[in-house]
Amino acid sequence: MCGIVAYIGEKQAYPILIKGLQRLEYRGYDSAGVALLNGSVKVFKKKGKVSELVYHASQQDTTGTIGIGHTRWATHGKPDDINAHPHTSGNGRLTLIHNGIIENYNAIKESLLNRGHEFRSQTDTEVLVHLIEEIQSQNNIPLEEAVRLALNQVIGAYAIVVMDANDPDKLVAARKSSPLVIGIGKGEFVIASDASPLVDYTKQVVYLNDNEIAVVHRNGELQIKTTNNELQDHKVQEINLQIEQLEKGDYEHFMLKEIYEQSKTIGDCMRGRLNASEGWVRVGGIEDSIEHFTNAKRIIIAACGTSWHAGLIAEYLFEELARIPVEVEYASELRYRNPIIKENDIVIALSQSGETADTLAALELAKDKGAMIYGIVNVVGSSIARVTDAGSYIHAGPEIGVASTKAFTSQVTLLAMMAITLGYRRGTIPKSYYHQLLEGLESIPAKVEKLLKLNDKIKYIASEIKDSSNALYLGRGYNFPIALEGALKLKEISYIHAEGYPAAEMKHGPIALIDEDMPVVVIATNKSSYEKIYSNIQEVKARKGVVIAIVPEGSTEISKIADYTIEIPDTEEPLTPLLSVIPLQLLSYHIALMRGCNVDQPRNLAKSVTVE
Ligand code: AGP
Ligand code: GLU
Repeated sequence: MCGIVAYIGEKQAYPILIKGLQRLEYRGYDSAGVALLNGSVKVFKKKGKVSELVYHASQQDTTGTIGIGHTRWATHGKPDDINAHPHTSGNGRLTLIHNGIIENYNAIKESLLNRGHEFRSQTDTEVLVHLIEEIQSQNNIPLEEAVRLALNQVIGAYAIVVMDANDPDKLVAARKSSPLVIGIGKGEFVIASDASPLVDYTKQVVYLNDNEIAVVHRNGELQIKTTNNELQDHKVQEINLQIEQLEKGDYEHFMLKEIYEQSKTIGDCMRGRLNASEGWVRVGGIEDSIEHFTNAKRIIIAACGTSWHAGLIAEYLFEELARIPVEVEYASELRYRNPIIKENDIVIALSQSGETADTLAALELAKDKGAMIYGIVNVVGSSIARVTDAGSYIHAGPEIGVASTKAFTSQVTLLAMMAITLGYRRGTIPKSYYHQLLEGLESIPAKVEKLLKLNDKIKYIASEIKDSSNALYLGRGYNFPIALEGALKLKEISYIHAEGYPAAEMKHGPIALIDEDMPVVVIATNKSSYEKIYSNIQEVKARKGVVIAIVPEGSTEISKIADYTIEIPDTEEPLTPLLSVIPLQLLSYHIALMRGCNVDQPRNLAKSVTVE
């Protein structure tokens, strides 16, 4: 995890680095730091947010046209000033920023200690900068060569940028399993973990591949080699990212902005892919591999967190509509099992960021086993998008709030389009139902818009339950994954312990927890199981639980017994998750805000988990 940014050019580096770090802060916020080279190297670093760093450096000389910056999500060593990046070599010549983990840092550290190196921090990163220094000074070789030789000794994941005090005209960057993009401006380069710090200066980028080392020169030259010393020729790509997409606009938080954007982002995901009145749906990546998909014996979905919940909904969708068996796996478990994956299986990696280390590793494992691998991601040019041969973007735009909201509904929208396509092609859904589903999907954005108008009511419910220590979320069928997602949203941003359960499973254990202090959120939008879930609510009420029910519009029975009800507009049952999740996102948002929590940057979390 963590965000890195570096600049070389004619402008002052400091403001560019700070702005870049603020954009990357969603990736980690344990500490922030910069190193600037202007005659000598100055390093400023501070525990906490980028704002702490800015305050700390405010009275200092921050001039210089070359520099590197880092916002950390600690893996090795507690979050404090000393462990903050950049880290400096023993002789003070090299400074380095790092995203990832050097797994064999202990062994390297031992041998460097024997050679007289002294370490200030507990990080794995400091070991790497000492190793590069050792190789550079032993062999008197250019920095990039020292970096290359050092990386050949390293096991682990990294995106790094190194600056040499003796050479103010170049920076050396490298990556393996952690993202790095190089923005090419006029007489300047901005290197970063994602494209957000560079859009103000350029749209021309090169994405570095694994095991590549780039050298950017002040004169505009860019050279890329592999760690095996082979020169690489990269195509410069143009990114399509608008600055407004990276800012909060009139909203108080990114999470709220992203919740409200969903009526648009769900539509963006369908744009050019679905037309209900003409009766067609076409998802490019699927059309290109249609034989594979229609003949698939099994689909395995690998994902983490919220993306895994979207995968669970896909299991219901694909099995019901397309009659293809589906298994949904935690990527972190799949990668360390010896799973049975066959050549006619399709493995779908589902990931907002496209950078989640576990999902990426699971995908690589599936590829080795000969399965077709398909990526569904949000971030264009991300690692998962680049390692898969086929895939689809969900087009939700940058999601900055650490808690995923709009990416989730776009993932479900795309998966629904895929399931409907395959159901139609395989003849497993009647034509009339196919048309109903297309119409249903097309009308979702307007229904989301309508639902968002319930914000004040949801805020009131939030105020009633905000002091609870625990919460239970129950759902059935298509809305069981929504129970899991609602609970995750509450946990991650409000720090209230919450659990999601299949509603009928409650009586096998969790019912013991219910008393008058336990809010129970029941997602009761499935018409096919309305009566059953009505009984589940009765069971909760009999034990004095506080019921917040998400119900279909006009539902009277449940409304009579629930303490609070939120109505969602009517839609086809497989599409209900796209609506039922919205009030749960808002509920968590308001509860977290009322409890004084940092909604966009919850403690201990980071947006993309690029470490194991
Ligand atoms: C979502 O709210 C979480 N912050 C987290 O579970 C996230 O969904 C997970 O880390 C997967 O990320 P990805 O979709 O970028 O792969
Ligand atoms: N492993 C390094 C550290 O703990 C880098 C972590 C990161 O990616 O932020 O400092």
